[in-house]
Amino acid sequence: MGNDILITVGKSVAGLASALVILRFINLKGWRHFNEYNRLKGKTFLITGANSGIGKQLTHQIAVAGGNVIMLCRDGAKGKSVINELKAQSKSATMGSITLRRMDLNSFASIEESAKELIESVPRIDCLINNAAVMMAPFSITEDGFEGHIQTNHLGHALLTTLLLPKIAASGSPADPSRVVFVSSILYRRGTIRDDSFKSGSVTLENFDSKVAYSDSKLASLLYARQLAHEIDRLGYPIVVNSASPGMVYTNLGRHFKLSWFKKVLLSPFAALFVRTPSEGASIILHAAASEKTIDSNGAFYHSYDEKPIESKFDDQLSKKVYQMTMEAINKSLE
Ligand SMILES: NC(=O)c1ccc[n+]([C@@H]2O[C@H](COP(=O)([O-])OP(=O)(O)OC[C@H]3O[C@@H](n4cnc5c(N)ncnc54)[C@H](OP(=O)(O)O)[C@@H]3O)[C@@H](O)[C@H]2O)c1
Repeated sequence: MGNDILITVGKSVAGLASALVILRFINLKGWRHFNEYNRLKGKTFLITGANSGIGKQLTHQIAVAGGNVIMLCRDGAKGKSVINELKAQSKSATMGSITLRRMDLNSFASIEESAKELIESVPRIDCLINNAAVMMAPFSITEDGFEGHIQTNHLGHALLTTLLLPKIAASGSPADPSRVVFVSSILYRRGTIRDDSFKSGSVTLENFDSKVAYSDSKLASLLYARQLAHEIDRLGYPIVVNSASPGMVYTNLGRHFKLSWFKKVLLSPFAALFVRTPSEGASIILHAAASEKTIDSNGAFYHSYDEKPIESKFDDQLSKKVYQMTMEAINKSLE
């Protein structure tokens, strides 16, 4: 009897362990380690939201490979503490520089000020990684009058990119173009674009849904990036624009998503295997930002390393419309 119980428990544990290993395998299907680190050396990368999660991991990997990182963070103290932590971890003589600039995507004035200062003080920008985001945050309206998700995740990055574009173009060449990467999410599929999507006052406390706000902002950013790639072709700039989704990654992004302790305990073994590490997530972003294989892929969307066609319902016409509406929303800051 005792032996039977032991055998049953043993089989259950083995079954669960096999299921978890299979989940891990499925989760990393199509995923590979970024291994072209020589391509990062000596280049200058600008990363928004670099003090946490994927941005912090990108900063670490790029600097260790000899690249120079300028972290754009809204909280100077958090940024400084990450620099100290990363410098203490890696004392290699070949390590690139890590510097910090304060920039809050929720303020167009802050973005304008940072862009101006960067244009004047930094010799080159080889790659801009638009990484920062908020997800399922409480309702807020920024000082520019927009809902918080759409400004942080989309409009702020669009403004920063537009202001820096000539500088980024000047750092690239046809053989080795500069890069702009928009960190995306597969949740774009749940997003929608309305005629008043980027109109201040269109989202109110009454019609606000934090999940919808995140998906809408990620869709807007993805479609904007696709049209920006066309605009860059037209201007003849040596820049490649891509979007890349890191998969589900264990970071601070879910800070506003509250789970009871019971659900946390129940889900933690699955999360440990099903959710990617920041390093695994960062690999896909580096692939889009620096790989030789992504040089000719202006306007592409990467998911698990492979270029993925975006849903056909989000067509080129919609990309053009998003681009136009975005430029109207940020227009004042471009005058
Ligand atoms: N984690 C995932 O499962 C997952 C899945 C798909 C896509 N992504 C995408 O991956 C990217 C990185 O997210 P993460 O997972 O690494 O999340 P994270 O750990 O929460 O990092 C987000 C970063 O954005 C910064 N940020 C937020 N609001 C800002 C603002 N107004 N101005 C400047 N910076 C601001 C945060 O700064 P503070 O620390 O000061 O708040 C933080 O540094 C995001 O674009 C996200 O949409 C993540």
